[in-house]
Amino acid sequence: AMEARIAKIVAGMTLAQKIGQMTQPEIKFSTPDDIRKYYIGSVLNGGGSWPDGNKHASAADWVKLADAYYDASMATDMKVQIPVIWGIDAMHGNSNMYGATLFPHNIGLGAARDAKLIGEMAKSVAKAVRATGIDWVFAPTLAVVRDDRWGRTYESFSEDPAIVKDYAGAYVKGLQGDLKSDNSVVATAKHFIGDGGTAEGKDRGENQSTMADMINIHAQGYYPALQAGVQTVMASFNSWNDVKGGKDHGKMHGSKELLTDALKTKMGFDGLVVSDWNAIAEVPGCANDSCAASINAGVDMVMVPEHWKAFIANTIAQVEKGEIPMARIDDAVTRILRVKLRAGLFDGKKPSQNIYAGKQELLQERALARQAVRESLVLLKNNGGVLPLARGKKILVVGKSADSMANQSGGWSLTWQGTDNKNSDYPVSDTILAGIRDAAGTDNVTFSENAAGVDVGKFDAVIAVIGETPYAEGDGDIGPSGTLRLTGRHPEDLAVLQAVAGKGKPVVTVLVTGRPLFVNDLLNLSDSFVSAWLPGTEGKGVSDVLFRKADGKGYVDFHGKLSFSWPKSACQSPLNVGDAAYDPLFKYGYGLTYSSKGALPLLDAGYPAGGCGKTTAVPVYAPADRSTYALYVHSGGQRVALGADLNAVFKLPTVTVETAQINTQQDAKRLTWTGVAKLEAQAAKAQKLPAFAATDGALQFDAIVSAAPQGKVSVGIETVE
Ligand code: IFM
Repeated sequence: AMEARIAKIVAGMTLAQKIGQMTQPEIKFSTPDDIRKYYIGSVLNGGGSWPDGNKHASAADWVKLADAYYDASMATDMKVQIPVIWGIDAMHGNSNMYGATLFPHNIGLGAARDAKLIGEMAKSVAKAVRATGIDWVFAPTLAVVRDDRWGRTYESFSEDPAIVKDYAGAYVKGLQGDLKSDNSVVATAKHFIGDGGTAEGKDRGENQSTMADMINIHAQGYYPALQAGVQTVMASFNSWNDVKGGKDHGKMHGSKELLTDALKTKMGFDGLVVSDWNAIAEVPGCANDSCAASINAGVDMVMVPEHWKAFIANTIAQVEKGEIPMARIDDAVTRILRVKLRAGLFDGKKPSQNIYAGKQELLQERALARQAVRESLVLLKNNGGVLPLARGKKILVVGKSADSMANQSGGWSLTWQGTDNKNSDYPVSDTILAGIRDAAGTDNVTFSENAAGVDVGKFDAVIAVIGETPYAEGDGDIGPSGTLRLTGRHPEDLAVLQAVAGKGKPVVTVLVTGRPLFVNDLLNLSDSFVSAWLPGTEGKGVSDVLFRKADGKGYVDFHGKLSFSWPKSACQSPLNVGDAAYDPLFKYGYGLTYSSKGALPLLDAGYPAGGCGKTTAVPVYAPADRSTYALYVHSGGQRVALGADLNAVFKLPTVTVETAQINTQQDAKRLTWTGVAKLEAQAAKAQKLPAFAATDGALQFDAIVSAAPQGKVSVGIETVE
């Protein structure tokens, strides 16, 4: 009966109405009236857009906007009104919503090894999202990450398909429930397929897996997700080149073979395929407002955040010209209507009539998130049984991430890249420092971010909370050719540990991170070392485990086991359980408990002077008649990182990156944050170019530097592709 109903609706629709249904603009770029006029089928907000642009919007404000979109979609001149569906990136809680509880990112959940917890978390996320009137969540990410340099590693549960497989069904069921009830949302399995397996971890890169690995590794999460009834699948930015099979399958968004023949036909998926953000533009011959090839390949709903009007016009023209068959359009609209019907959108209820709508208190399932934090922590070192700490002792807390809700939440938290505005953006939350104060007693805790001028001897123990700073998508803050060595990017973390270590007081390091890192230097300076991943808003979950219970008797033991292997050297990427030369520092599955015996010895913290890539000589042309020169490094189109050999060549007062062929916003950020500033400062002091790339593999560009060289020279370049 449902299929007959859908067929009847589709038969009564004009072409413009059908294409409108297939179009998904961003709420920033589309008003409710646009939805009515253009028959828009869906809107999204992707992290960083809020009702009226107000990031402090209340749940009631969200519901009001959701009602406005819904009402507009029900007031068109269509024969049958089709309710709009709103999708959101609620990656680890309702992460766009001011005041929502944020759970640990997926990498931490992977360590928790608790599928039941995943189901409960997903239920909680669904409620929190429905409380804002939204019906669709772009989760779970089912990537099986095989190179941790990928900037989305933290969105993955594990390098092991078994864990992804184990969680996928529970996550989908938790979000979708029976699909129709007030606390259900539509889920999205993403990104189909092979997103976690690109060469060098390059975002939007090329997956070079064999067909067998594609199925046995990268597809594993999709089988249980489909079985659990996931209604939507998001196509992936990556391409697939089955190097061993000798077959280039192209970009996923243009792959009929994968989206239609494999996913829809072979695997039996009858829901809708949504594109990623402007991803159609990456298909050869396409633009961000036009891509017949992608629709023909099987994309049903197109995420065209800004250029949706032109997309609608172009797509209508393509159908009229016969470039897209009407049957394909009808199939896409049928799938969209199927999902909407199954999700109960046709049942006549406005978002505000949902029982949870606008109920702020339902957004705050803090105890569950705190439990998830406790379960996710992994104890990597505990020499001398320093942990658990007794309560009531004098504790010195240091490190940039101790009191930073932004750092502990990571990307996809209030904004796409993660907010840099500390606690003020998270009214209902505890930083890790707040948790420590709660456990140790506020008067016993002294906090000094960089430990400057602190007499460590006055304290019983030091807790250093350090690690990565927020990023999302792109290459993260490492880059596909960079290394996992944390202190190359964050020398302040090494400095703070050097300031407190060796003073006769135990040092407990809590690492906030979205991936395994090369941290041997930091491990050597710590008595105990805990990976806290990106725990989210519940910092007390960390202190629950670090400290003995209030009665002084027992403790909450560590539960987490690594779902990713940790490198022994900075150049050990990729590194995965089952690899032929598998030789990690901490194996997949590693994780101490308070009863573990043995001590971690001092580790080799060395880092190769030339970085991890191979060094080749590249000619540099430097006119000698200017005091500041532009050096044009002809790298033949390769992406390069400057190598240590520069040190031998230049004696420079200053070196700045003048310009670069910057591919993404993230590249620009990386250049500004790490490379340039540090380089200038050091060069000015040392009167020569330091071996910066040897210590900072993150500086990459295509590449042009400006400098003051001594004539024409050759320079060592670390080749990364
Ligand atoms: O859902 C996300 C996806 O994971 C990455 N690109 C943007 C989408 C929408 O924000």
